[in-house]
Amino acid sequence: MGKVHGLPDSVDEANDVFPPPPRLQGDGEYPKPHIGPDYKAYLSEYEKTVGPDSDKWWKETAEKELSWFTPFKTVRAGGFEAGDVQWFPEGTLNAAYNCLDRHFYKDPKGTAIIYEADEPSEGREISWEELMQETCRVANVLKEWGVKKGDTVSIYLPMTWQAAAAFLACARIGAVHSAVFAGFSAESLRDRVNDCDCRVLITTDEGRRGGKSIATKAIVDNALESCPLVEHVLVLRRTGGKVNMKEGRDAWWHDECDKVQPFCPCEPMNSEDPLFILYTSGSTGKPKGVVHSTGGYILQALLSVKYVFDVHPGDRFACMADVGWITGHTYIVYGPLANGVATTVFESTPVYPTPSRYWEFVDKWKATQLYTAPTAIRLLRRLGEEHVKKHDLSSLRVLGTVGEPINPEAWHWYNDIAGKNKCAIVDTYWMTETGSHAVAPLPGAISTKPGSATFPCFGYDLEIIDPQSGEVLKGNDVEGVLVARDHWPSLARTVYKDHKRYLETYMKPYPGYFFFGDGAARDSDGYIWIKGRVDDVINVSGHRLSTAEVESALILHKGVAETAVVGSHDDITGQAVYAFVCMKPEFDQDNIDPAALNKEMAIQVRKSIGPFAAPKKIYLVNDLPKTRSGKIVRRVLRKIVAGEADQLGDLSSVAEPSVIDDIIAKVKASK
Ligand code: WTA
Repeated sequence: MGKVHGLPDSVDEANDVFPPPPRLQGDGEYPKPHIGPDYKAYLSEYEKTVGPDSDKWWKETAEKELSWFTPFKTVRAGGFEAGDVQWFPEGTLNAAYNCLDRHFYKDPKGTAIIYEADEPSEGREISWEELMQETCRVANVLKEWGVKKGDTVSIYLPMTWQAAAAFLACARIGAVHSAVFAGFSAESLRDRVNDCDCRVLITTDEGRRGGKSIATKAIVDNALESCPLVEHVLVLRRTGGKVNMKEGRDAWWHDECDKVQPFCPCEPMNSEDPLFILYTSGSTGKPKGVVHSTGGYILQALLSVKYVFDVHPGDRFACMADVGWITGHTYIVYGPLANGVATTVFESTPVYPTPSRYWEFVDKWKATQLYTAPTAIRLLRRLGEEHVKKHDLSSLRVLGTVGEPINPEAWHWYNDIAGKNKCAIVDTYWMTETGSHAVAPLPGAISTKPGSATFPCFGYDLEIIDPQSGEVLKGNDVEGVLVARDHWPSLARTVYKDHKRYLETYMKPYPGYFFFGDGAARDSDGYIWIKGRVDDVINVSGHRLSTAEVESALILHKGVAETAVVGSHDDITGQAVYAFVCMKPEFDQDNIDPAALNKEMAIQVRKSIGPFAAPKKIYLVNDLPKTRSGKIVRRVLRKIVAGEADQLGDLSSVAEPSVIDDIIAKVKASK
């Protein structure tokens, strides 16, 4: 049989690469890696996980790693064409059982969660027993409120450790959670709660972050004014700040939990039953409710933590993301807990109260893996290495990054200063829809190159396709768009209530393949480099936003006639939002201070989406460059913002090229 994948047989490791450091080779006290010591070790295991003969590996792995209530017979079924992908379809299991009960029985007093509170002195460890009891109590409260298997529950919680209990409580009784990042505005929360028909919402009185309080419950109250289905709100007391409790609807978490038993049995779920919905931005203004399954998702969440972070029993895993995004779902809650290792809920920011915060944390809790985003690394790099140097970071073995391509300067700082050249750097490429890492180095096996996510993860059979011809680009030194040839267990199964959109977004662009939406290249050594989104998605500090979402927000301002939003490079946040706005002719623009107008529009975006989406710059322009049929030519705007106004290329498709001069002048004037 020929090769079933596009990977090279060997790689040239002499070529500016960073081999696995001794810590990833079992040196001294450190454990021997699961997969090592080199590319060949990775390749021989990877080959078992893709292609027509890989069912055996997946069967054995799923049986060994997960606890099933009833066994599965079929490993996989369905495919991309109909979007009817299935993994382990007859099997029944429960995600909470796999993440909690089986570890609780083994070691009830062992640490499940390291809760690093916003104030450094207030953190503590939560045992498996405490997490189990809290989870069961919340599950029983939900049951009392009539929540049943298959019902949806909204979770609008900041980084409190009880967020993990809320997720697992839903999973335990078979309810489908829909977590909404607590940085989203009331309007965004309202749309997400209504889209998935939630009757119950879980939140806090307030959140704490960077020494400040965030009025979480007040945002919920505002959102729920237009959520007619919501009957119950469970409110966790985090700060004790004053909140309004609506009679008959709102109840305190501690009061309700006091009334119920600390044990609740796990509902047997079919492997294909949905575990959660998570909304993410696509090319249009309406976010998609991405639906993940139970068995396939939990298996690959577990495996990717085990292999990509080389997790071993007793490890203390620290992912600094927010539970409201996919990274928090897979790498704070489900992945580490399924492995039975301690996970971290980090409530603060990398710079509060000082830029030493991450390193103090690592030193104090002896974290073994640290996982963060390039934007945080760039910020810390700018603030100076003295903040890192005074701390003992010898517990660390693996440093991960996620969210956007990491620039080599940030990579080197992470490797040299944080890792002291002794840790493996894993640049992990994946997305909400993949559920788990798609491209990432295995730290004990792969020599890394700064800026490359290196090679496909187990189960991901990837190709690069020429977007013009649709042909698969074989061999090295090629660039195109990234696709997958076959499905993998943690692939999202649908878009909630919109399977057509699921098929159209991921399956139809290149029939027979799954389309990620990112450009990618394979270099002369076979390493994969992710080049960023090829659609209208902008990535700000690792937060995914669509240009259409920001445009829809701006247009709500009373004076705005038309707007176009583009993403452009930013030294800290990776990309930033730039907006071009044409005011309505009747809007008296001359008598209003442009700074005040800009502020009003930024407030509109914060109100419609959330603070993280606010444009870095808003340009008031007379007109936008359009084609004869009226389509906005964003390419031109992107070039102008990037300072490449002299390289606009062919403008023959622009109906009124003269509008471009006005735009160039306005952008220059505001620099
Ligand atoms: C981008 C976040 C390059 C990519 C886990 C993808 C990356 C989008 C990387 C998904 C990386 C994520 N290198 N680009 N290591 N990680 N991306 O759904 O453009 O919030 O399509 O999932 O982030 O964002 P999402």
